[in-house]
Amino acid sequence: MPLRFLTAGESHGPAVLTILEGMPAGLPLSAEDINPDLARRQGLSAGGKPYPGASPRMKLERDSAQILSGVMAGVTIGAPIAVQVANLDHAKWKGKAIAPMTIPRPGHADLTGALKYAHSDLRMSLERASARETTARVAAGAICRKLLAEFGVRVGSYVVEIGGVRADLTDMPLEDRVARALESDIACPDETAAASMRARIEAVIRAKDTLGGVFEVVALGVPPGLGSHVHWDRRLSGRLAQALLSIHAMKGVEIGDAFENAKKTGTQVHDEILLADDGDSTAGGGRLLRPTNRAGGLEGGITTGQPIVLRVAMKPIATTLTPLNSVDLASGEPRPVEYERSDFCAVPRAGVIGEAMVCFVLADALLEKLGGDSLAEMKPRFEALRRACLSDLLMSNEPTVFWGTEEQNT
Ligand SMILES: Cc1cc2nc3c(=O)[nH]c(=O)nc-3n(C[C@H](O)[C@H](O)[C@H](O)COP(=O)(O)O)c2cc1C
Repeated sequence: MPLRFLTAGESHGPAVLTILEGMPAGLPLSAEDINPDLARRQGLSAGGKPYPGASPRMKLERDSAQILSGVMAGVTIGAPIAVQVANLDHAKWKGKAIAPMTIPRPGHADLTGALKYAHSDLRMSLERASARETTARVAAGAICRKLLAEFGVRVGSYVVEIGGVRADLTDMPLEDRVARALESDIACPDETAAASMRARIEAVIRAKDTLGGVFEVVALGVPPGLGSHVHWDRRLSGRLAQALLSIHAMKGVEIGDAFENAKKTGTQVHDEILLADDGDSTAGGGRLLRPTNRAGGLEGGITTGQPIVLRVAMKPIATTLTPLNSVDLASGEPRPVEYERSDFCAVPRAGVIGEAMVCFVLADALLEKLGGDSLAEMKPRFEALRRACLSDLLMSNEPTVFWGTEEQNT
């Protein structure tokens, strides 16, 4: 797999870092391509309003990317790209004597990390296990997003459920969902549901508790033929699911209508392949048509050319103002957990992290498909792929418009 990235850094250390390796040369790139996604991860909607339920730390810090390598004169040079984001909170912790933490919080890596690494101070685990690490992922994802945009691929997300309150997005095109979520202070395209979600979060804060929820990540304009059916670790469905489940607190991933489909019969579920009788094809007879997309854009671990639709379940935040029971590992006595500043609901902030991971997997798969060390090398190969798809095989699709047609994905 041509693309890879590593992250480093602790929650209250000086900075978090990303090294992204395998990016082709010739991609225009600056910190301005990364900072808007960092702001969304911090809980600031596109309008600059903070998401409800975000931790006060999000108001304290303004993340800003510093590109340390791999870019010269504003374009990538094919070398590893290192990005640093400073932890402004670090100054407050630097040099301070902090008492060891010995009461593990349920739902965190405190106990499991201590058992694995033999830490007596649980901070040694929680500092790296913290979702602060996702800042570095978002930086890597933003660079991958820039590459994908060169080929017309767009990735977005929106909240569909918080604490049991569900958005009704029936008949709302995917494009509109993403656009409306960017304007919403809770990243939800359904305004009525958004109001109820806000109220639900306010109620849970008053009740000294926390919430989780569900968001969707969609990829539009994805060419067919990314991924492969030939081996388990090349199936794009598995790679996307793994990438999303690797995000802190994500406990379920669904591709397309997977769980609804599981209740139905085969003839009700599978997206039929029809011939459009518009006579546009040189293959004789017409173009292929997929009128539905219940499969979520993936068949046999390979992209179909339809939108990729992924649903992700986030567990409720594990740090609760109402203390959960635990045990002080220093004394062996039962003790309630001690509270530290925390989000009450992070679902609106989580979508952009999901986008980052999907951007990374798709950029990797695109590079695999096209090869090439520079954009200049990739572009003609991509055009050849598009021409082959349009003339030999494919494709038109209503209502989910297929890749390569004039109309874009809905
Ligand atoms: C964007 C985001 C923000 C989070 N903020 C918090 C938080 O403020 N407090 C908290 O207890 N957990 C928070 N979490 C979740 C913890 O990181 C997560 O519960 C912990 O890593 C354990 O989950 P795991 O078992 O999936 O690793 C957040 C997660 C994400 C993705």
